[in-house]
Amino acid sequence: MSTATTSAKEHIVIFDTTLRDGEQCPGASMTFEEKLQVATVLDEMGVDVIEAGFPIASEGDFESVREIARTLKRSVVCGLARANPNDIDRAGEAIRPAARGRIHTFIGTSPLHRQYQLQLDQEQVYERAVASVKRARNFTDDVEWSPMDATRTEHDYLCRIVEAAIDAGATTINIPDTVGYATPEEYYELIRMLIERVPNADKAIFSTHCHDDLGLAVANSLAGVRAGARQIECTINGLGERAGNAALEEVVLAIRTRGDILPYETGVDTTHLMRASKLVSTVTSFPVQYNKAIVGRNAFAHESGIHQDGVLKNAQTYEIMTPESVGVSKNALVMGKHSGRHAFREKLKDLGFNLGENALEDAFKRFKDLADRKKDVYDEDIEALVGDEILTSQ
Ligand code: KIV
Ligand code: ZN
Repeated sequence: MSTATTSAKEHIVIFDTTLRDGEQCPGASMTFEEKLQVATVLDEMGVDVIEAGFPIASEGDFESVREIARTLKRSVVCGLARANPNDIDRAGEAIRPAARGRIHTFIGTSPLHRQYQLQLDQEQVYERAVASVKRARNFTDDVEWSPMDATRTEHDYLCRIVEAAIDAGATTINIPDTVGYATPEEYYELIRMLIERVPNADKAIFSTHCHDDLGLAVANSLAGVRAGARQIECTINGLGERAGNAALEEVVLAIRTRGDILPYETGVDTTHLMRASKLVSTVTSFPVQYNKAIVGRNAFAHESGIHQDGVLKNAQTYEIMTPESVGVSKNALVMGKHSGRHAFREKLKDLGFNLGENALEDAFKRFKDLADRKKDVYDEDIEALVGDEILTSQ
């Protein structure tokens, strides 16, 4: 009898755009070498598609996309292009050395973008979209098309232009919430509506691209997946224009942790996440906020006595994923005024002290006095305090 099991979980393509949308964030530019370093970590981590840059933007961007395309063997390497021949040819040239290369071409489709940014009417935008996808297909079979500001585009028009882009050869249709305006319910409905109404929707993979202006980028991306999207565009640490993009580490861990309601899988080896987060933070000089989900300094740290006691008895009392699963060696019991006896005793054991009950009680009182005066109590403070305790009890 065969013991083979088949996974019922559908694969979600993880498309990382740290090097493109992430780098567009003011002050986050990276050097050629830094981009190559980040791309290598993403590739090792199992990211499916890496948007390596916007080749027409500068000579440097072109060179880094081309070098990443030349170097990576596993991930698809993607270059961004507006809907014009020069952009597309430049992106096509940059991805040429890739084992697997993609061109991502986009045009604004909402009334605001058509009128103010492009000064084009619906039909002109439609024609440019079709022409750009066709031109990109001369370089690669893997063409992604995005109607920029899709969440503020008229539905009938959006359906018509998406259908035309697929007919022209787009294999991925990305639906950007460019200004982070949508709510999860709306974004779910939009993806559902497109998949139901566009006659050739089954010929392309639908993708989410959510910005975080209202703090909803991850929730919107997951809603999009539940509605049928099978690619998520995201960045390490949620880096990106204005308030950023959906954070890669958050969407991947949400899918991994909540398999009960999100029956999907990604190819990302999550144990690389902390390393990737630290690298992106270092090369961009953007600090990661202490309480950032998954990769923040406090994501696996406990200070309150109740929580520390629970975690020491069974980590699952206050942790929904293990620190090891995201590349953190262990959780941290931070000693402060909220800490209790249980954690204090464990801390002493870690530091190599073995006190009797009375001495321990005495040291704990002194520790609490100190913690009231001092915000952070370090190991050295505890060592000094217990050293005094040992001396006075001799
Ligand atoms: O947010 C956006 O609309 C974009 C497009 C280029 C896909 O980043
Ligand atoms: Zn974007």
